[in-house]
Amino acid sequence: MQIQIVPVAGKRKPAEALILPYWQEKKKPIPAFSKAGMDEVLLSLLEEDFKGDVAEINYSYAPEGVEKKVILLGLGKKSGSSLASLRKAFAVLTEFCRKKKIVSINVFLPNAVEDDNLVAIVDAFCMANYSFDESKRETIKEKPTVLLQKIQLMGGVKKQQELIDRHLLLMESVDLARILVNRNADEAKAHDLVLKAKALAEKYPSIQCEVLGKKELEKEKMGLLLAVNRGADHDPALIVLTYKGDPKNKDTTAVIGKGITFDTGGLNLKPTGGIESMRIDMAGAAAVLGILQGAASLKIKKNLVGVIAAAENAISAKAYKPGDVYISHSGKSVEITNTDAEGRLVLADALSYVQKYHAPNRIIDLATLTGGIVVAIGEEASGLFCNEHKMTEKLKKAAEHTGERVWEMPLYPEYAKALKSTIADLKNSSAGRKASPCMGAIFLEQFILKETPWAHLDIAGTAYLSETNPYYPSFATGVGVKLILSFVESL
Ligand code: BES
Ligand code: ZN
Ligand code: ZN
Repeated sequence: MQIQIVPVAGKRKPAEALILPYWQEKKKPIPAFSKAGMDEVLLSLLEEDFKGDVAEINYSYAPEGVEKKVILLGLGKKSGSSLASLRKAFAVLTEFCRKKKIVSINVFLPNAVEDDNLVAIVDAFCMANYSFDESKRETIKEKPTVLLQKIQLMGGVKKQQELIDRHLLLMESVDLARILVNRNADEAKAHDLVLKAKALAEKYPSIQCEVLGKKELEKEKMGLLLAVNRGADHDPALIVLTYKGDPKNKDTTAVIGKGITFDTGGLNLKPTGGIESMRIDMAGAAAVLGILQGAASLKIKKNLVGVIAAAENAISAKAYKPGDVYISHSGKSVEITNTDAEGRLVLADALSYVQKYHAPNRIIDLATLTGGIVVAIGEEASGLFCNEHKMTEKLKKAAEHTGERVWEMPLYPEYAKALKSTIADLKNSSAGRKASPCMGAIFLEQFILKETPWAHLDIAGTAYLSETNPYYPSFATGVGVKLILSFVESL
């Protein structure tokens, strides 16, 4: 998709539709754009029952001939305008165009559009203009996917084109995450993630890739990651990607992704209704790949180390068993009280590995860790657990900026009591259903060395939605890529 800023003055270039955004006013909606050069006929068109509510749409055939259609787009009250309302309006507009098979549009931007607002509008176009078609056969023949191809933005300043191009590039990394999550489990297994990571290192000289296969994992005594993968046919992997965007500086942020390529629950098998979407249990890993690609393609001047703990939680005679004890990379022993609490196990080993060999200044892990976070806050926000106030605030800021919401959850030390084991150093899941997202987080915290700022994002609700919407037209959202890159840039 092309998005270009074009001059307002002079004759408009042809497109299929002209988009006129409106602010909502008490008496009647008022154009949000400069009327210069606009035909009065166009302006008065359809204004009648159009109120200008956020994402309200009305359209007609155009009298002038430069475009075939004119579409009015409500932006709501000017005073109540936000990045979220702009995203919503322009995502609904994109959906509308796709339904009407419109592939090129001329858009009047709101007057003196600020950088943040412009990026939100571009973001909405990109997020909404996506379709995952790899598994469609007959349906795609009957109903081919229509995507917007050309968007000409009238009203910005020329310099803002840089911001647009940058966001288009960033979106390639979001799409990488969306594709990997949408894909079949067996097409995004540990080996496929390894290939993708190696391809990134091949493409970008600023990225180095190191892979620990089964043998190396055994040598490193990554007992928990190996335990989780025992029932699987495919080998596990620990993928380590380093990105040096500021080689002279030592400061490094570690991003760790849960890469369970399918989660059957193990011998504590998941029931029907819970198991069907479990190919998405590597969404944290997909986000890490997206974050590294994004950092390299945007040449972000920070250092990153990305770690993916990839394994399949399968069921077989070899599968790890409830009640058994396994030794982690850190040396701590863990009683497996539930084989379905596998994410925290693979993450624990990845966390101690990255601290031992890379000593990062801060760590963020992304994981579809618990169903409990979905019960608690739904699909509207990722659960944020963080042991440092400053980092929490920075992540919240990045969330506001990118629209990838986070909601702060507690890390009370008392939770750790429920993970005490009588036969090992700790157990991986507490009895009962109390505070399950917090139990997951507090388990992970046991593997964080003193003084390391650390945040855990539980993305079980936000990585893959139960219903699509105009902004998220395919179930996978690519959550985490924009959020973490924005956070890293703010450091
Ligand atoms: N992968 C699941 C969590 C999940 C649930 C992700 C729904 C996406 C959507 C995780 O491994 C899991 O099964 N967690 C258990 C933990 C419990 C056994 C302590 C859960 O949430 O029930
Ligand atoms: Zn599980
Ligand atoms: Zn899982």
